[in-house]
Amino acid sequence: MQRVAVLGAGRVGLSLGLMLKSRGYEVVGACCRRVENTERACRLLGCPEASRLEFVPVADVVIISTPDHAIASVAAELRAAGCFRPGQLVMHTSGARTSADLAPAAASGALTLSFHPLQTFPRCETVSLEGVLVVGEGEGPALAAGQALARVLGARWQSLRPGAKPLYHAAAVMTCNYLVVLLDVALHLMAAAGFAEEPARAALEPLVRSTLESVVHLGPAAALTGPVARGEVETIATHLRCLDPQDRNLYSVLGVRAVELARSRGLSEQDACRLRALFEEVTHETVQRP
Ligand SMILES: NC(=O)c1ccc[n+]([C@@H]2O[C@H](COP(=O)([O-])OP(=O)(O)OC[C@H]3O[C@@H](n4cnc5c(N)ncnc54)[C@H](OP(=O)(O)O)[C@@H]3O)[C@@H](O)[C@H]2O)c1
Repeated sequence: MQRVAVLGAGRVGLSLGLMLKSRGYEVVGACCRRVENTERACRLLGCPEASRLEFVPVADVVIISTPDHAIASVAAELRAAGCFRPGQLVMHTSGARTSADLAPAAASGALTLSFHPLQTFPRCETVSLEGVLVVGEGEGPALAAGQALARVLGARWQSLRPGAKPLYHAAAVMTCNYLVVLLDVALHLMAAAGFAEEPARAALEPLVRSTLESVVHLGPAAALTGPVARGEVETIATHLRCLDPQDRNLYSVLGVRAVELARSRGLSEQDACRLRALFEEVTHETVQRP
């Protein structure tokens, strides 16, 4: 399988196209919604600007890397135009959606697959999948083809049943997107405490990296340090007093989970009760607010 078509050459599609091109695949066509983005993608991928109705039928691997909501309609449109054929591998890159979105391609005899790299692509063209896990979901022959493609990209592979995809993807969102949100909140607190943005980011970096390393190597319970792990009720009460209502609620929701974790590593039930009471007073208040 050597010829690749990319429908939705944005952050993921363009990156995958470039990675496959660098490994000897021929990108036969690419498109975006906007003309200027299609032009740029085709220039970078070294393919002619052609109609998707022309290049999809000749591709061996069709990557649909549009936003999730557009996958099924793009597949239906291509099926109606007779673009799919038996033996073609048609895949999307969504973490949440299953290969069922590609039913129109399966009806034409194509192998259909969801192929989700567990990696963040904040910009086009910047990502390597060396050592990254790709999670695949689909029927047997499609999974085998997906695994081979992951190997070409230097990625690791795991297949997942369709019903597990939403849970798996929620975990990915918590890890990646919500870590960004937590750090954004932390940077706002640093700013309020008088730190300038750039020094604050630099200051947080070693803390983030060593925390991540501890979680990976020791597991979450052993990695938990700080006032909840030590049962320091007064310190937590001081934090709650200085936060605005929104941040206080976020702090407390996470605090309840931190207490559970700390209990599993030796926090006394007495301290756990006092901390839980502080946090639950805040979350309860937030629920009560109109
Ligand atoms: N970004 C990540 O970190 C990441 C990681 C893993 C998986 N994913 C998954 O990968 C997929 C793409 O995400 P992304 O972040 O790469 O999105 P993105 O950067 O917004 O790219 C989406 C691309 O699809 C194009 N597009 C939209 N509707 C289209 C249509 N009907 N026909 C053809 N092209 C269309 C857009 O064109 P325009 O640019 O002209 O609007 C854009 O080029 C999603 O399923 C996402 O869940 C993303």
